[in-house]
Amino acid sequence: MIIAGNWKMNPDHQAAAALLDALSAYTPDPNSTCKIVCFPPACYFSMANQALASSAVSWGAQNCHQEASGAFTGEISSQMIKEQGGSWVILGHSERRQYFAETDALVSQKIVAALQSGLKPILCVGEPEEVRNNGHQDSFTQSQLEKSLDLVAQMTPDAQKTALAQLVIAYEPVWAIGTGKVASLQDIEAMHQGLLQKMDALFGAHLPEAGVPILYGGSVNDTNAADILGLKPVSGALVGGASLKLDAFLSICRIAEEE
Ligand code: PGA
Repeated sequence: MIIAGNWKMNPDHQAAAALLDALSAYTPDPNSTCKIVCFPPACYFSMANQALASSAVSWGAQNCHQEASGAFTGEISSQMIKEQGGSWVILGHSERRQYFAETDALVSQKIVAALQSGLKPILCVGEPEEVRNNGHQDSFTQSQLEKSLDLVAQMTPDAQKTALAQLVIAYEPVWAIGTGKVASLQDIEAMHQGLLQKMDALFGAHLPEAGVPILYGGSVNDTNAADILGLKPVSGALVGGASLKLDAFLSICRIAEEE
């Protein structure tokens, strides 16, 4: 299980310090292999690194640039995240696709950059509401997956194996993000199965033995987490709003530890 807390452009400095302080004190169940990761805004990286250095919780970035360095005002490279002590990066989040015009082709480049820097990428896919209303959610998300992994598909077999061992996917229906609407358990299961089959078709024998983990995201909270995380093809959750509420986030982590 993986529980990832995406803070987005939140909270203020004081609340961020308090959250990091509480997360640093998190004591995982010694029998659990659950990974807990938070994704603060870049201005809190050094604070996160200091707070979480000797804790069970790791941290990552919400985005990175595809180039290693250069004249890209306002951007941060994967190498910089790594140097600051981060170990993960969320890529292709629907808010990046929607508000910052990120395409599958760009996401594909960012995935390669992240992997080259030694970061674990969480690749987000998910359909907008009108696509679901038209019943095209399978082809839409599977096409996002295929195109966002295009450059991974072009790697040599050995490089591809190494890349896939680091990759995590998140299925986040756009209409469920920050809305309080959650996909039905049946739909979540079906979408995850479809994505797993697509990964099989694309990468077959180069996939890690346990497969690539697929997280569910979209209005996950401490009330619905047990049902969602109990689904067989769900390997964790990408949590937005509830990751800013300490009690709710820690409850979700405890639920995941029991899975
Ligand atoms: P939410 O956000 O949990 O607030 O719906 C999830 C996400 O955007 O990753």
